[in-house]
Amino acid sequence: MDARPLLAKLTCPLIPVVVIDRLADAVPLAEALLQGGISALEITLRTPAGYDAIKAMKSAFPDAVIGAGTVCSDQAFDKAVGCGADFIVSPGATDQLFAAAARHKVPFLPGAVTGSEVLNAIQHDYATLKFFPAEAAGGVSTLRALSGPFPELSFMPTGGITPDNVATYLRLESVCAVGGSWLTPRELLIHKRWDELCQLAGDSVARVAEVSEEKST
Ligand code: 3PG
Repeated sequence: MDARPLLAKLTCPLIPVVVIDRLADAVPLAEALLQGGISALEITLRTPAGYDAIKAMKSAFPDAVIGAGTVCSDQAFDKAVGCGADFIVSPGATDQLFAAAARHKVPFLPGAVTGSEVLNAIQHDYATLKFFPAEAAGGVSTLRALSGPFPELSFMPTGGITPDNVATYLRLESVCAVGGSWLTPRELLIHKRWDELCQLAGDSVARVAEVSEEKST
């Protein structure tokens, strides 16, 4: 199903894209990010610990919104849903993934950057898309251009988003959330610097709150 209702109820539009190397880091990391004001996390399935990390986070924080990212096959989709993922994100979209999404009642964000990819997603009834790789695909100017023919769409850009450009993305009407790995620097994870991760999240959440306020006035 489309992810718009889920994203609309988030208290913060920043979605950290998380790579978990050690399962033991999953719960303290989620705790640090949630304490910093983040309301949804995307746990990538790029590492073997990804699935169990989703399970561990959902078990420790049942009310938190924990999604699965880098979901590239129907088996991965099914398995992530089985682990309790609240939403599913893919860097692209295939018939196989749309079929898996149709079997579940979990919000799905298919990846799209071109007119044809967007049209394909619309034909499958999706109006909320992951715009990936955002910066490499032309960033804000490509998103503005896509809003011409597709004014009803919402995007979650990811890929190359940084503290310096995040506000520019969020100011766009078509952007409902922004994802990225800058909120979980590997160096801080490796050394379990949870307080610094919490601080980084808190600073980013505060910066973004100003943008959301501007946008709503
Ligand atoms: C992703 O991997 O889904 C995102 O594109 C993360 O990109 P980033 O590392 O540039 O934030």
